[in-house]
Amino acid sequence: MAYPLVLALGGSLLRPEESERHAWISSLANLLLGCEGSIGIVVGGGAAAREAIELARGRGENDLDTLDEIGIAATRVNASIVSQILQDAGLDVFAGIPSDVASAVQGLEAHSVVVMGGTRPGHTTDNVAIRLAIEVKAARCLIATNVAYVYSSDPRVDSGALPIESMTLSELQNIVGPPVHGKAGGSSVIDPIGVQAAIDNNLPLAVLDGREMERIGDALAGKPFDGTRIEVG
Ligand code: UTP
Repeated sequence: MAYPLVLALGGSLLRPEESERHAWISSLANLLLGCEGSIGIVVGGGAAAREAIELARGRGENDLDTLDEIGIAATRVNASIVSQILQDAGLDVFAGIPSDVASAVQGLEAHSVVVMGGTRPGHTTDNVAIRLAIEVKAARCLIATNVAYVYSSDPRVDSGALPIESMTLSELQNIVGPPVHGKAGGSSVIDPIGVQAAIDNNLPLAVLDGREMERIGDALAGKPFDGTRIEVG
């Protein structure tokens, strides 16, 4: 039997200003209906997390764990919405949102789809997806987000940033930095804590533009896809 697939969906993919998001979620459901085997989906907090964390910060809350818990709550709300839509589409989805990776692994033993959000303070949902991929022996952890590639530098501030189609985990670590959880709601292309976990466990990763459903479909099917492949090394 094939090992489960693991897909991280950046919370930005669900944000209100993203046009066509209803169509996007429906096409995700259709895509999953055509998939063989099981899949673990880890949903990020996106705008909901950022706004809630900023609201708490603005009120003087500076405790990192407390701010992280607020972010986790937002990821779980987003995960609940995705889970419900996938259930409504007829997929065999584990009921509820697992609060840790071990429960998600159990869920995948009995269901085709498990949807979860964050688990505990100190990292982001990228790390949750990477941990889940390690536990279920997924061939690669797919990270769908709102950028098409990992870039040589931050394309938001450097117009000379170059897209990278293929790289190693060590090269990725040179870009994202050491495994430190800097601040709640902080955004790196991939959580450096997750990158370290992937290095420690020889797990290949991929980053792709989740707004392009065809790319998610190709990556899930194991076909060549537009995006960045990150290999062990
Ligand atoms: P996200 O996973 O959405 O992280 O979790 P992000 O990098 O800020 O956002 P994207 O990937 O660009 O969409 C939101 C916040 O929730 C907390 C962290 O503070 C994170 O920044 N969080 C999330 C945790 O503390 N633990 C978790 O397991 C997940």
